[in-house]
Amino acid sequence: MGKQLVVLISGTGSNLQALLDHGALGGEVNRVVSDRPDAAGLERARARGVDAVCVAPGAHDDRRGWDAALCDAVAAAAPDLVVLAGFMRILSPAFVNRWPVLNVHPSLLPAFPGARAVADALDWGVKLTGATVHFVDEEVDHGPIVAQEAVPVRPDDTPASLHRRIQAVEHRLLPECVALFCHDRLAVRGRQVSVRA
Ligand code: GRF
Repeated sequence: MGKQLVVLISGTGSNLQALLDHGALGGEVNRVVSDRPDAAGLERARARGVDAVCVAPGAHDDRRGWDAALCDAVAAAAPDLVVLAGFMRILSPAFVNRWPVLNVHPSLLPAFPGARAVADALDWGVKLTGATVHFVDEEVDHGPIVAQEAVPVRPDDTPASLHRRIQAVEHRLLPECVALFCHDRLAVRGRQVSVRA
């Protein structure tokens, strides 16, 4: 049987769509969880018959309550892997130590971590940025790197135009990395991730 995947989203869900459309992941997305009720990705999931739920921070008394509810919503699907596809919140240590978690980030980490990665790269004046897929640890945008691909910055780029080209790369890179995980081809030793033949 293939791996069971839970995908966490906060927004549009174009990376979620790329996972749903891939066809040879070696696993299936069996639940999508959003922290925002209006995340368009929830409808993308439901359109494909995938269970999709919202766990909104506002519905809980405090951070601990939300952390516990998020863990419960993910645990209910018994995933082998959790994928962050544009999930804009920081996960608790308990969460990241419970499941393997992959994240896709729109820069060449460790450059430009955080939520403004594309605008920060433009402001800095870099000529090259890109996309990173990495395992998630307790620090933000920090864990072992699985794959990266560069995207050149054009002189007339805006954050939106640059982000569009980075996302085109993400839509290929994230499913490739998820497929490697699902086929048991990723080995992690410290910060080093290698791909088994
Ligand atoms: C992606 O660019 C990802 O790198 C960043 O958030 C964006 C999510 O886009 N973390 P989408 O919701 O998958 O369309």
